[in-house]
Amino acid sequence: MPVHSSLATSDALTLTNVTRAFGALRAVDDVSLSVTAGQKYAVLGSNGAGKTTLFNAITGDFPPTSGRIYFFGEDITGLPPHERIRKGLRRTYQSSLLFRDLTVRDNLFLAVRGVANGRYSLRRARDGHASTLATQELLERARLTHIADEFVANLAHGQQRQLEIGMALAGAPRLILFDEPAAGLSPAERKELVALLRSLPSHMSFVLIEHDLDIALRVVERVTVMHNGKVLKTGTPEQIENDAQVQAIYMGGKH
Ligand SMILES: Nc1ncnc2c1ncn2[C@@H]1O[C@H](COP(=O)(O)OP(=O)(O)O)[C@@H](O)[C@H]1O
Ligand SMILES: [Mg+2]
Repeated sequence: MPVHSSLATSDALTLTNVTRAFGALRAVDDVSLSVTAGQKYAVLGSNGAGKTTLFNAITGDFPPTSGRIYFFGEDITGLPPHERIRKGLRRTYQSSLLFRDLTVRDNLFLAVRGVANGRYSLRRARDGHASTLATQELLERARLTHIADEFVANLAHGQQRQLEIGMALAGAPRLILFDEPAAGLSPAERKELVALLRSLPSHMSFVLIEHDLDIALRVVERVTVMHNGKVLKTGTPEQIENDAQVQAIYMGGKH
């Protein structure tokens, strides 16, 4: 894979002029941004701004129709999604993809095994012991040890979202894309989510799609605001919070 010569070596993720069209609609329109290694990043924007489509382009679920995507300097624009997972890219989805009839522990075990195999699989593991240890570690990291043996179907909404984050943490990811993890959470669950996001290792980057500005501003170092598929503004949380154009377009509708 060619390495882009103009990229900063500290960049974990770089998008250059990424566009994703669906017919005549440019859901993502000429977006450029970079996330440095270890950086915590947020993408804000109202419904339909193109945030999830941006994630789909990054993961390869709906690859860009033009533009390039680099992951730690490597051009991954044309790679299939599972190859990107192998390289340490993870995501969570807006709607839950958990196995509802299994326990928390078993869901995490499957995530561990899936990553080990390069794909999700129910096959029995040869190195089952290592996977069991990794599962225990994930339970602790995602703060789920106390409900390890609960069935997912019986969990509160916030616990399910927490488990999705735990699944994404399997296999030492280098960068995680979180799609609205706070959606539908109670204030107490939001607090727990903020604590979890803040407890992630400093070398791990993430990009958080978030509607609630208060949550985003408490956990990230850099923010991009999208509007109609385009980048409206990129800056520090303080710059974004105080930006007149952002206030008019994004926050204007909410307050
Ligand atoms: N698979 C798809 N096919 C056609 N249109 C899509 C598809 N995915 C998203 N869109 C459209 O792209 C636009 C951006 O959607 P989305 O990325 O989901 O926005 P956001 O996540 O910011 O709410 C919307 O107009 C949506 O209808
Ligand atoms: Mg979305």
